[in-house]
Amino acid sequence: THLLKGVKHLSRNGISKVPEKYVLPVWERPMTWGAEPDPLKLIALPVVDFSELQGPNNSEALKSLSDACRDYGFFQLVNHGIPEEVTRGIVEVSKKFFELPFEERSKYMSSDMYSPVRYGTSFNQSKDKVFCWRDFLKLTCHPMEKVLPHWPSSPPDMRELSAYYAKAAKNLFMELTGAILRGLEINQVEEHGALIEEFKAGSQLMVMNCYPRCPQPDLTLGMPPHSDYGFLTLLLQDQVEGLQIQHQDEWVMVRPIPNARVINVGDHLEIFSNGRYKSVLHRVLANSRQHRVSVASIHTLSSNRTMKPSPSLVDDANPPKYKDTNFASFLDYVSSQEPKNKDFLESRK
Ligand code: SIN
Ligand code: FE2
Repeated sequence: THLLKGVKHLSRNGISKVPEKYVLPVWERPMTWGAEPDPLKLIALPVVDFSELQGPNNSEALKSLSDACRDYGFFQLVNHGIPEEVTRGIVEVSKKFFELPFEERSKYMSSDMYSPVRYGTSFNQSKDKVFCWRDFLKLTCHPMEKVLPHWPSSPPDMRELSAYYAKAAKNLFMELTGAILRGLEINQVEEHGALIEEFKAGSQLMVMNCYPRCPQPDLTLGMPPHSDYGFLTLLLQDQVEGLQIQHQDEWVMVRPIPNARVINVGDHLEIFSNGRYKSVLHRVLANSRQHRVSVASIHTLSSNRTMKPSPSLVDDANPPKYKDTNFASFLDYVSSQEPKNKDFLESRK
């Protein structure tokens, strides 16, 4: 139907009401004005300075990283070294992609979870009973030389800019993961080294999200509450507020910091850390004022590799709290049902 043309299409046609398909049941709406506690409360997430983490006196930065993963599951990373023009490039090209005629974008529609490129709308358009106010483009980024020829060929600089950003994000992920393993005191050289190699060869998914202006933002959501399945997600958000995280049983809005990346713990890191770090629920609000764009880079092991609680963190006093899993079983899970909240991770307990 015309709804599969996505929300950019609806927004451009200047509608004044959201179609029925987007109206959430009352109890799932993001309660906005005048609600208690104030759901638009802004939070200054912990800030980790990447240049300090890489520096010679990094014990303080390492502690702030570990504390943030334990207490928030989220933090903002500044001085991360990805040049501003690379960031601008990926934001501009993804904006241009969503402005292409639907016929062009629809070439990349696919319900195959293993497809190297998937364009779509909502969260999972073939399963969602109620749609959410988002269009997306998902690019598999590994192995780059194999997937790149499948990526969209328009806008003309799509492949080049996306590949460049994906590589920069991967390098940053590798450095951050090294620091996280140090913070968790995964000291056994063997385990640490083997993991780093596995992550290097691991999977990376880049998701470009487009949230156009919405005439009735309190009836719908840009993205429903979910946790990320991977090890870490590196999120680039523009200056438009929208991302909310669950913190101390409240929804709080993440205040954008210019050119920072929002980093969050995924299910696989929760499992690996045997519950020391939590993969935190988050969602995205729609808004009536401004178009919002984000680009998430999701990293973990290759789809068939097992993620399990680290042997360094497990002993008789701390038995494993999670079952082993892998990315492939997550994909099977989302292919068979609508993923919600943290159901997949909970089923691993
Ligand atoms: C996501 O949760 O994957 C996207 C969040 C955002 O758009 O800010
Ligand atoms: Fe997410």
